Amino acid sequence: MKIAIAGKGGVGKTTISGTLCRVLGRSHNEVLAIDGDPNPNLSVVLGIDKSATPPPSLSTDIIERVEEAEGKWRFQVKMPFEEILNKFGQKAPDNVTLLMVGKPEVAGTGCMCGSHTVVRELVHSALSSKETQITILDTEASLEHMKRGTSRYVDKIYTVVEPYFRSLEAASRFADMAKQLGIEKIEAIANKVRNQEEKMAITEYCKKINLPIAVFVPFDENVMEADLKGISVIDHNENAPVVKAIEAFAASLTN
Ligand SMILES: Nc1ncnc2c1ncn2[C@@H]1O[C@H](COP(=O)(O)OP(=O)(O)OP(=O)(O)O)[C@@H](O)[C@H]1O
Ligand SMILES: [Mg+2]
Repeated sequence: MKIAIAGKGGVGKTTISGTLCRVLGRSHNEVLAIDGDPNPNLSVVLGIDKSATPPPSLSTDIIERVEEAEGKWRFQVKMPFEEILNKFGQKAPDNVTLLMVGKPEVAGTGCMCGSHTVVRELVHSALSSKETQITILDTEASLEHMKRGTSRYVDKIYTVVEPYFRSLEAASRFADMAKQLGIEKIEAIANKVRNQEEKMAITEYCKKINLPIAVFVPFDENVMEADLKGISVIDHNENAPVVKAIEAFAASLTN
């Protein structure tokens, strides 16, 4: 199962991705978490020990340019995904492995492609690999990491939305953009929902734009308390409403 979690800045992508990884890992799944953000913070939400030695950073060296027919070029990742995972992956609690791809170091040698291309190729390589049982991608606030064709490896893309108009409008644009990329399998995750009124507002809006809602995740002080301590919400309080909502969502995914 491969899932991408996307959405506007600050909506809760990392909180949801990280907690979902931990919950799925706890039910004995092997989970690969990919942090595609240039300002990575999935590591904290996954509960990786801050004093642990991080793996080496991925660099633009990992990509090569190969010639196709008639002077056309394309980029590809140099090594099999299994090797990337062994070298650059980091163990997190509950059967989760983290791979940070969002900020590749620019190497002096090798392919002089932009870091954007590198991220896109790495995401493509991760999503198309058969190495891991479950892959969850925490993306930047756009679909830019997805190249045409990548979506065929993704079971679903979730766009996280908050109950206010600008966030919902952004979700609508996101859904349009996804369609242009040929991505059909897109659903919403409603996050930070405080009451029935907000739930209704999201429901009505998403109905209008034909975007199914996969789960409602409540606004939960536990997330902020965990943030303040710099730990994962699941380690802060495993019975937190946010964790319970994500558990129910995870169960619906694996059933
Ligand atoms: N269900 C929730 N209840 C309360 N606060 C939440 C909830 N989900 C996320 N938050 C808070 O919202 C803020 C943004 O969360 P998060 O970092 O997960 O979002 P993001 O979409 O990954 O952001 P970015 O676009 O910067 O990567 C954090 O301060 C987090 O504590
Ligand atoms: Mg984030």
